[in-house]
Amino acid sequence: MADFIKIEDDYNGYDLKMFCVPRHYEQDLESILIPYGVISDRTERLARDIVNDMGQDALVVLCVLKGGYKFCSDLLDYIKALNRNSERSVQLRVDFIRLKSYENDQSTGEIKVVGSDNLSDLKGKDVLIVEDIVDTGNTMKRLLKLIAEHNPSSVKVASLLVKRTPRSVGYRPDYIGFEVPDKFVVGYALDYNEYFRDLSHICIINDNGKKKYAI
Ligand code: IMP
Repeated sequence: MADFIKIEDDYNGYDLKMFCVPRHYEQDLESILIPYGVISDRTERLARDIVNDMGQDALVVLCVLKGGYKFCSDLLDYIKALNRNSERSVQLRVDFIRLKSYENDQSTGEIKVVGSDNLSDLKGKDVLIVEDIVDTGNTMKRLLKLIAEHNPSSVKVASLLVKRTPRSVGYRPDYIGFEVPDKFVVGYALDYNEYFRDLSHICIINDNGKKKYAI
């Protein structure tokens, strides 16, 4: 089973005053759950684990938009640094897929692929899916089924976060940054109705924020 950093249910995170948060979100957040620096350091280690596990073949990194873009970008930077500085290097290709399943803080139960490259290019390739968060696991199960239809040689999943929730279908990614409590988190490209992507740290949204940005 993948290693991960477990953030306990009774952990309240850091006071907003201890770090820099945009003024426009100060009233909308309960606390900072994972500061950007910690996300970055954990991502560096995940990059090393991924490179160590990889074979010699080129890897297709499939970034799940929009929430996965920051994690994917930082992860790729760390993998590229390893490629530059070791004898062994793995060629990378980057593709994107866009999925949508959430309105407010609730899953709509329906997962839409609203944009992707030509997935038939994945045939015979080693694929690494890079995602922001696995909550129930429905999105990833659906995506894995879709990818499998295009006959890749192998598929692995790296998710920065996994939520501890009774609604989980039991799916666990191959690489996990942090396991987090069953709360709605935003920042580091994770959104609430498209807001908070412009926040560096991963934070817990408060009721004020949920009300203010509800649709
Ligand atoms: P799942 O299908 O329930 O696993 O949901 C996965 C998707 O829901 C993620 O890729 C996110 O887009 C979104 N999501 C789930 N929980 C959160 C959260 O706490 N914050 C932001 N987005 C979330």
